[in-house]
Amino acid sequence: MSKPILIGITGGTGSGKSTIAKAIFECLPEKNITIIEQDSYYKNQNHMTLEERVRINYDHPLAFDTELLISHLKDLLSGKSIQKPIYNFSIHTREQETVLVEPKDIIILEGIMILDDERLRDLMDIKIFVDTDADVRIIRRILRDIKERGRTLDSVIEQYLNTVRPAHQQFIEPYKKYADIIIPEGGYNKVAIDIMVAKVKSIIYEKQKGGIINIL
Ligand code: ADP
Ligand code: C5P
Ligand code: MG
Repeated sequence: MSKPILIGITGGTGSGKSTIAKAIFECLPEKNITIIEQDSYYKNQNHMTLEERVRINYDHPLAFDTELLISHLKDLLSGKSIQKPIYNFSIHTREQETVLVEPKDIIILEGIMILDDERLRDLMDIKIFVDTDADVRIIRRILRDIKERGRTLDSVIEQYLNTVRPAHQQFIEPYKKYADIIIPEGGYNKVAIDIMVAKVKSIIYEKQKGGIINIL
């Protein structure tokens, strides 16, 4: 297998990163693509009590086990499989189990803080920033976190004002300048998703032919 292509998808919370990554995945019937969520690499906090874990700032680069993420990406890029951690947002830590991820032609890395680390940026062939207004993002996050992440309305609002919003301004928005492509509104931007799918299909086609891959 020739070297896989790594596509980074970033943007603020609720911008639609995960939805876009899944939409691209769904459009590739051969499934020669895998998604790595930066969220899976939140640090293991099994040594802490739940009360201690609730108080952690999850919107800081130090909340992530970036060393493990980089080492796993390097493994996938060199054709080796990995055991990806499983993160549980309801209990703020990793599950005991891991999931086997095989190397694929296309790897999508998606997460809020994948552009602030130069080593991660250097691994990516294509960098996408999903740009969605903050009011839309907070509404999406409230609905999602109550439904899927075991949160209350009060807890989502308090966390947003205390850590999520300032972190967005400090660690996410400034890194938009490193993006190759900016997608407005996220999740259901069909034109942007179709363009990305066409690009990914052409990369896979070139790889199968053994030709030279022209990334952008
Ligand atoms: P992120 O991973 O960037 O935090 P998600 O992809 O999880 O964002 O999207 C947050 C929530 O908003 C999800 O519930 C998703 O279904 C919804 N969503 C995503 N994109 C759109 C969109 N364009 N319009 C409406 N809802 C959307
Ligand atoms: O999918 P999304 O980009 O929203 O995921 C990142 C968000 O998850 C961060 O903004 C962080 O506040 C939140 N998070 C959380 N609780 C955790 C870990 C992350 O609310 N235990
Ligand atoms: Mg997400």
